[in-house]
Amino acid sequence: MKNHLFFFSTDAHPSPFDINIALDSGFDTVIPYGAVKLEETEGLTHDIIFSRGPKGAKLSAIFVGGSDVDLASTIAEKAASSMTPPFVVPVFADPKGAYSTGAALVAKVKKAVGGFTGKRALIFGGTGPVGKVTAELIASEGGQAVIVTSRSREAARTVAETVAGRSGGQVEGESATTMEERLALMRTADIAISTVKAGVQVLSLAGLEALGKQIVVADVNAVPPAGIEGLAPHDDMKQIAPKVTGIGALAIGVVKYKVEAGLFRALLEHGTSAGYKECYELAKTLA
Ligand SMILES: NC(=O)c1ccc[n+]([C@@H]2O[C@H](COP(=O)([O-])OP(=O)(O)OC[C@H]3O[C@@H](n4cnc5c(N)ncnc54)[C@H](OP(=O)(O)O)[C@@H]3O)[C@@H](O)[C@H]2O)c1
Repeated sequence: MKNHLFFFSTDAHPSPFDINIALDSGFDTVIPYGAVKLEETEGLTHDIIFSRGPKGAKLSAIFVGGSDVDLASTIAEKAASSMTPPFVVPVFADPKGAYSTGAALVAKVKKAVGGFTGKRALIFGGTGPVGKVTAELIASEGGQAVIVTSRSREAARTVAETVAGRSGGQVEGESATTMEERLALMRTADIAISTVKAGVQVLSLAGLEALGKQIVVADVNAVPPAGIEGLAPHDDMKQIAPKVTGIGALAIGVVKYKVEAGLFRALLEHGTSAGYKECYELAKTLA
C-alpha cells in the first residue's frame, strides 16, 4: 500500500509549493482538491478514512492549505472531528504557508532577542495571515505585540482583539501610513517585523539608525525591494547598521521549509496532526 496525502485547498489550484515539499518529504502520492468548501469536508473525509480500512488509514493523511486562512483552519477542524476510531488519519494545516512562516519568523527573532518578556514588537502588515500568527506567538510568549496597519487604526484594533483573545497575551493595533509615522511608532519598540505584502518597503535604514537604540529587525519578503531597507534575504542576525541587527527572508525561509517538511514527515511516520502551535515548537528547535 502507498502513502497518500489528500490536499484540501481553499484555492482553486492547490499550491505546487506544498505539493513539492510533501512529495520530497516522503509521500508517494499527493491528491489535490481545489476550492474545497466547509460543507464538503465531512463527505471527503469519510471517503478517505473508510475506503482503505484501519491499516490504510495509517498510510493516509490530510493537509489543509489555501489563501483563506480562517476557512482553512475551520476545514481542518471539521475534517478532524469527522473521523471515527479506528478510522482516523492525521491532519496538518498550514494555510498560505502562514503557520510555518510565522513560526519560523518568531523562533528566529526569539533567538536574536533572547526572549520576548518586556519586549515590544511592531508587526507591519500584521493584519495579514503571516502577521496574525506572528503577533499571536509573540504575545503568547509574554511580549507586547503591536499589529500595524496601513489602513485605519480601527481595522488594526479589530484584528488585535481577536489575536489577543487567542493568545491570552497583549496585542495592540496601530495605524501608520507614512515613513515618519512608522518610525515614530518605532521609538517605543525593541523589535520591527515586516510581514507586509511582497514589494512594499516600510522602514528606511537611516530612520532605524537614527533611533539610536538596540533593535532587532526581521522581514519575510524575499522579493525586492526588502520590506526593511538594508536587509538582505540571507542576513542572519547580521548587524546592518550600528545597533540594528537584522534577519532576512531566506534565513527565515530555510527554517520555514524545514518546519513544513518536518511536519509532513511526522504525519507519515508518527501520524501526528499539526497546526501553528506544532509549527512553532518545531521551529524553536531549528532556528
Ligand atoms: N519567507 C518565507 O518563507 C515566506 C513564506 C510565505 C510568505 N512570505 C511573505 O510573507 C509576507 C506576508 O504574507 P501574507 O500572505 O501574510 O501577506 P499579504 O496578505 O499579501 O499582506 C500582508 C499585509 O500587507 C499589508 N499591505 C498591503 N499593501 C500594503 C502597502 N502598500 N503598504 C503597507 N502595507 C501593506 C496589508 O495590511 P494593511 O492593509 O492592514 O496595511 C496586508 O494585510 C509576504 O511578503 C510574503 O511574500 C514569506
